[in-house]
Amino acid sequence: MRIAELSIPEAVKQLTIKSGIVELYPPQEEAVKAGALEGKNLVLASPTASGKTLVAEFCALKHIMEGNGKAVYLTPLRALASEKFEEFKKYSTIAKKSGRKIRVGISTGDFDSTDAWLERYDIIITTNEKADSLLRHRAKWMDEISLVVADEVHLLNEAERGPTLEVVLARLMLTNPDAQILALSATINNVDEIAQWLKADYVTTDWRPVTLKEGVLLNEEIQYKDGDARKIGKETRDPTLNLVLNTVRTGGQALVFASTRKNAAVLAKRIAAEIQPILSKPAKRSLEHDANRILSVGERTQLSDSLAELVKCGTAFHHAGLGGGHRRLIEDTFRQGRIKVLTATPTLAFGVNLPARTVLIQDYRRYEAGYGYYPISVLEYKQMAGRAGRPKYDKTGEAILVAKTNDEADYLLESYILARPERIWSRLAVERIMRTHVLATIAADYAHTERGIYEFFGKTFYAFQYDVNAIKGIVAKILKYLYDEDMIEVFGEDINATRFGKRVSELYVDPFSAVIIRDALKRKPGLLTGFSLLQMIAHTPDMGPVMRPYSREQDDIAVFLEEHKQELLVAPPDELQDNIAYEQFLGEIKTAMTLHAWIEEVSEEQLIEKFRVQPGDLYRTIENAKWLLHATHELARLFSNKEMLPQILEVRRRVEKGVKEELLPLVRLEGVGRVRGRIIYNAGYKTAEEIKRTSMNDLASLPLIGPKLAKKIKEQVGGLVKKETLDKIDEEAEWKQKALTEY
Ligand SMILES: Nc1ncnc2c1ncn2[C@@H]1O[C@H](COP(=O)(O)OP(=O)(O)OP(=O)(O)O)[C@@H](O)[C@H]1O
Ligand SMILES: [Mg+2]
Repeated sequence: MRIAELSIPEAVKQLTIKSGIVELYPPQEEAVKAGALEGKNLVLASPTASGKTLVAEFCALKHIMEGNGKAVYLTPLRALASEKFEEFKKYSTIAKKSGRKIRVGISTGDFDSTDAWLERYDIIITTNEKADSLLRHRAKWMDEISLVVADEVHLLNEAERGPTLEVVLARLMLTNPDAQILALSATINNVDEIAQWLKADYVTTDWRPVTLKEGVLLNEEIQYKDGDARKIGKETRDPTLNLVLNTVRTGGQALVFASTRKNAAVLAKRIAAEIQPILSKPAKRSLEHDANRILSVGERTQLSDSLAELVKCGTAFHHAGLGGGHRRLIEDTFRQGRIKVLTATPTLAFGVNLPARTVLIQDYRRYEAGYGYYPISVLEYKQMAGRAGRPKYDKTGEAILVAKTNDEADYLLESYILARPERIWSRLAVERIMRTHVLATIAADYAHTERGIYEFFGKTFYAFQYDVNAIKGIVAKILKYLYDEDMIEVFGEDINATRFGKRVSELYVDPFSAVIIRDALKRKPGLLTGFSLLQMIAHTPDMGPVMRPYSREQDDIAVFLEEHKQELLVAPPDELQDNIAYEQFLGEIKTAMTLHAWIEEVSEEQLIEKFRVQPGDLYRTIENAKWLLHATHELARLFSNKEMLPQILEVRRRVEKGVKEELLPLVRLEGVGRVRGRIIYNAGYKTAEEIKRTSMNDLASLPLIGPKLAKKIKEQVGGLVKKETLDKIDEEAEWKQKALTEY
């Protein structure tokens, strides 16, 4: 089926054809035949890179241009939301009937807002969590949604984030019953069930743009699923290395999955040593440039140094311990073909568009703190394998599992390559997870009686798969908890949220966290400091997994604890009576100590060294802390703890920027982070006023500042700059500017 024949707006056809797409891929054709463009609800389950997004794009454009509605596009990750935003942006050149250009918006941050500005947008890209929070705020513009796209809908199966997606879809089906639902998914076993739940038809295909060969590598030979075999030259003693070398030598790229971050980093180092000698001179020169970019993003740490060294050798690792800036650079450089080999943890398999000719699964197990090693699911395997083959570059892609013995080779063939992906199961029925959704159901007026609550949960995927009666016990327990903690009031049959309950729901925190904060705010510690607040939020479940203290850290923590005893807002449990609780407590102290060191301007390098925390984890901890301090501020307002407000606000700002109080006026300036702020401050410019009085040249001559940033700073503080100086500065490279804003 040709694009030209489709019933989509003319301008959309033109744009698509101009981009080089003239014909539909088979799964797209099936989706169209199933009525996707006529407003029918549809689940489209098809392999990686089979073009599911384009179907969503066409649907969205039809809704906007012909029906005058809004389209929301739900993604599981922020990174994926940005990727989709970039893809949809091209449509903002097209005008609607009214003559106004189509507006594409993205909303992923700040969970405590209705984002009223989204009213003006036609396509809104968002994460499931953000959509959940918007639904709690009952954002008015959401009434206009006429298309809901749920990307990566197999996420329903994920313990932590699946339930959010399920609740969001159930709520949207309730508030916008006429909206079209388009769910996109990897190939799964029970598409029919998901489709039935969504009152949708389904299309499922195995079609891929590039043929996929799956196999098992044992020593020097790959055994493929189809019976073929292939010998790999024995250049080193390690079969993984040999296959990687073979791929790169023949002009391909390889993606190697490892079970842990550490393994990924170690493996990358071994691979780099082998790849370096076979790179061409020009390739090395451009990689040198890429390595410099790695070093110019964020603070310099051992991690960025070692990553840069690897990049010089056309190799890199990718895992959640990397900061976002580095991750994006690595992804781009790999996509552009300069990085030849990327090692990664299984998290990468999820959604991000990073194809490679050869996908190697070095270890079919994955490691998770607290659980240890366990075998990955078939679904995960299929997602990883699906990354194999770059359309336009590779004729076939191959996904290879590495076996160490014959028995293991048989096992891998049986359990992964020939296996069918698992069924997707709802993960909603867990008290900790339900708690927040039960409160939100009442607080955001989705239900006001116990029966109403069951009615709502009766629309979830859980109720579809099991029986809503199975969660009645959990709901009753949660209602009692919410009542005991003053989050809901009950009059006869009527259940209403109190102001506290309503605010907790909007703040998007676990009711447990809110109770901890409320109670701590009542306590008067001997001394209330920034650390007091950090210790309190570190105790909440929303802070995420607790950092585990290493044995050599225990003494440091004990000493720190002794010195800051008067400041604690949450009292320590008895070490002798409850050893497990005490260990947990020490972990929370460690989290608080890390955040405390961060706002005392300890460098990232030292933080990594001292607390053994990687940048990616550090940033996530900071993000969570910012959000919880916002919640703390709002709850302090609600409970009239007025005297605490300035201090909470100050700590929140310091956590956001990682600075001491004295730098706050400086880091407010765009382009000035903790490192540059300190440089400017130590040079004697302590306020915007003082910067205004200094000359451009003096400012530009400071380390890490330079003319371009000096200009930007001067403009912000209202200083005068000569025209010639400005023109010269504007010529500088674009990427440098980008790198500047990050640190
Ligand atoms: N009909 C087409 N002809 C040529 N290229 C296409 C066509 N449709 C989509 N593509 C291209 O295929 C690539 C992969 O598409 P897309 O990202 O939609 O995959 P997907 O099915 O969503 O995969 P994933 O499961 O990884 O999310 C994109 O680069 C897209 O531009
Ligand atoms: Mg996709």
